[in-house]
Amino acid sequence: MKAAPVDVDSGSLLADRFRIPTPSPAKPDAMAEVVAELASQFDWEGPIGCAFPGVVQHNIVRTAANLSFEWVGVNGSETFAKAVGQDPATVNMVNDADAAGIAEMSFGAGIGRKGSVLMITLGTGIGTAMFTDGQLVPNTELGHLILDGQDAEETSSARAREEAGLKWAEWAPALDRYLDEVHRLLWPDLIILGGGVSSKFHKFSDLLTVATEVVPATLKNEAGIVGAAMAQVRGLG
Ligand code: BGC
Repeated sequence: MKAAPVDVDSGSLLADRFRIPTPSPAKPDAMAEVVAELASQFDWEGPIGCAFPGVVQHNIVRTAANLSFEWVGVNGSETFAKAVGQDPATVNMVNDADAAGIAEMSFGAGIGRKGSVLMITLGTGIGTAMFTDGQLVPNTELGHLILDGQDAEETSSARAREEAGLKWAEWAPALDRYLDEVHRLLWPDLIILGGGVSSKFHKFSDLLTVATEVVPATLKNEAGIVGAAMAQVRGLG
């Protein structure tokens, strides 16, 4: 779990990120304690935006594929607000890919892009964020498309590549197959690939055959934090 104060007008961090390992098991109360610790690192008493790796509808967590299932049904805003001793109205929670997408559309690879843009984050899971003319359609969960009988996240995420010990070129066909399927269903004008793999884009981009423009995210690891702050300020979620 990581945090930093954000200047939402410039999309930049006002201090270095501070990281604390996600507790295991990643249950609401344990994670709330970490949030409180992160806030205290920056003596922070202002608004807090959180990016969560699951479906979050109006601050209520609906899925938690890679965290404790105890999260399902929990109000993330209330849980974290209580831990930091703030009013829940000052704490906002959105999906992590949506947060990263919001930041990329304003300050990164999606600046000024009209039409339909799909941000795909490749990390432990696969997150997606869909924009039409810059407007977010929240909580798309295209990382869980079933491909060849398997959840796409199991074959095409960055974790899948690492666990199988695959070189970039060996993993690219699985990613390409996934992007083709997403393209077949949504026909995005642009796909932005985010997550840790964005800095390695040059190692596999030539192997992608999907019939739309694909570019790497430019905000790297900061997109989630910046976008979470922007979502808080814009009242998204
Ligand atoms: C979750 C998504 C999340 C993605 C990236 C998936 O397993 O279902 O909500 O955006 O992982 O963290």
